[in-house]
Amino acid sequence: MTQLNAGIIGMGHSYPEGILTNADLERMVETSDEWITSRTGIKQRHKAADNEYTSQFGTAAAKQAIERAGLKPEDIEIIVCATTTPDQIMPSTGALIQAQLGAVNAAGMDVFAACSGFLYGITMVESMIRTGAIKYALVIGAEVLTKYVDYTDRGTCVIFGDGAGAAVLGPVESGKGILATKIKSDGRYEEQLYAPGGGTKLGTSHKTIDEGQHFFKMKGNELFKVAVRSMADISAEMLEKAGLTVDDIDLVVPHQANQRITDAVASRLGVSEEKVYSNIALLGNTSSASIPIAMDECIQSGRIKEGSKVLLTAFGGGVTWGATVLQF
Ligand code: COA
Repeated sequence: MTQLNAGIIGMGHSYPEGILTNADLERMVETSDEWITSRTGIKQRHKAADNEYTSQFGTAAAKQAIERAGLKPEDIEIIVCATTTPDQIMPSTGALIQAQLGAVNAAGMDVFAACSGFLYGITMVESMIRTGAIKYALVIGAEVLTKYVDYTDRGTCVIFGDGAGAAVLGPVESGKGILATKIKSDGRYEEQLYAPGGGTKLGTSHKTIDEGQHFFKMKGNELFKVAVRSMADISAEMLEKAGLTVDDIDLVVPHQANQRITDAVASRLGVSEEKVYSNIALLGNTSSASIPIAMDECIQSGRIKEGSKVLLTAFGGGVTWGATVLQF
C-alpha cells in the first residue's frame, strides 16, 4: 500500500466588517498611532459587533475551506476548533460549528492553546490521517478576542483583533503535505498571558467582574523574549526533521503576534524579509486565527502554490508553541 501523508487541501477565512483603527484607540486610552505602529506594526484590527460571535466566523471560514477542497460537510470526520474565546463554555465551539455546517458525520471539539491552537489542531489530526484512522479533518482557528479585552488597559487593547481561518486536511501523495510538525507547552509561565476569571478557581461573581478578572492580562515584555527563542528553536528543529534548511523554504508564515517578534524570529533563523509573510498591520493579533488567515491570503494571492515549501510557527499563552513544515 502507498504511504500517504496528511496535507492541507482547502482553506478559507473570514472576519467581521467592523474596524478599530489606531486613531479610534487614541480616543479610548492614552496611546498614539506612532507608539502602536513602532512597537507592534499594527495600524488597525477587525472587531466583532455585539451580536457577532466566534462560531459564526469559524463556520464562514470552514464553508470556504470545504468548498475549495471539493468536499461536502458530510465528508468531514473530525472538527477541531482552536479558540480561546469560545461562544460559551459548553457545548464546544467545534460542536456549534458542526451544527452550523451540517457536518453530520463529524466529531466537533475545541482545543485551548491560545495563539498556537491552529498548529495544535493540525498536529493532532496529522497522524489520524496518515495512519488512515480518518480521511478528512477540519481545523479552524477562530477568535473574538475583542470581547475579552480590557479597553482601559493600553498594554493589551491595542494588540488583539477578531477573525477566523480554516483548513481541510486529507490524504496527499507521499513527499507532500505535512513533512514535520511539533507542539509544546510550559504551564509554569501561566501568568505571562492569562484570563483568570470565570473558571472553577475564581468562579464568576460580582467581585471577579468588578476586578476585571475575566479580561486578558499580559506581561508583554517578558513574553517577547520567550516567544522569539521558542519559535526560532522549534522551527530549526522541524526544518532539520524535514531534511530541509531555511534556504529550501519558499515562505515563512509566523503567528502574527507583533511585527518586531516576526522580524526577530526571521533574523534568528537567517531568513530574508521577503520570505516572511505579514498582515499584522491590517488585522492585528488574531491569536489562533492568524496563521490560517495568513495562509489563505497567500494561497489566494498565489504566494503559496503547488510545490511551495512553507514553514509555520506560533507562540501563545500557556505558554504554548509549535512549528510545522509543509510542502504544497
Ligand atoms: N501606548 C503607549 N504606551 C504604552 C502602550 C500603549 N498602547 N502600552 C504600553 N505602553 C508603555 C508602558 O506603560 C511602558 O511605559 P513605562 O516605561 O512608562 O512604564 C512602555 O510603554 C514600555 O512598555 P513595554 O511593555 O516594555 O513595551 P514593549 O516594547 O514590550 O511593547 C508589547 C509592548 C505588548 C507590544 C510587546 O511587549 C509585545 O508584543 N509582547 C509580546 C506579545 C506576545 O507575544 N504575546 C503572546 C503571543 S500572542
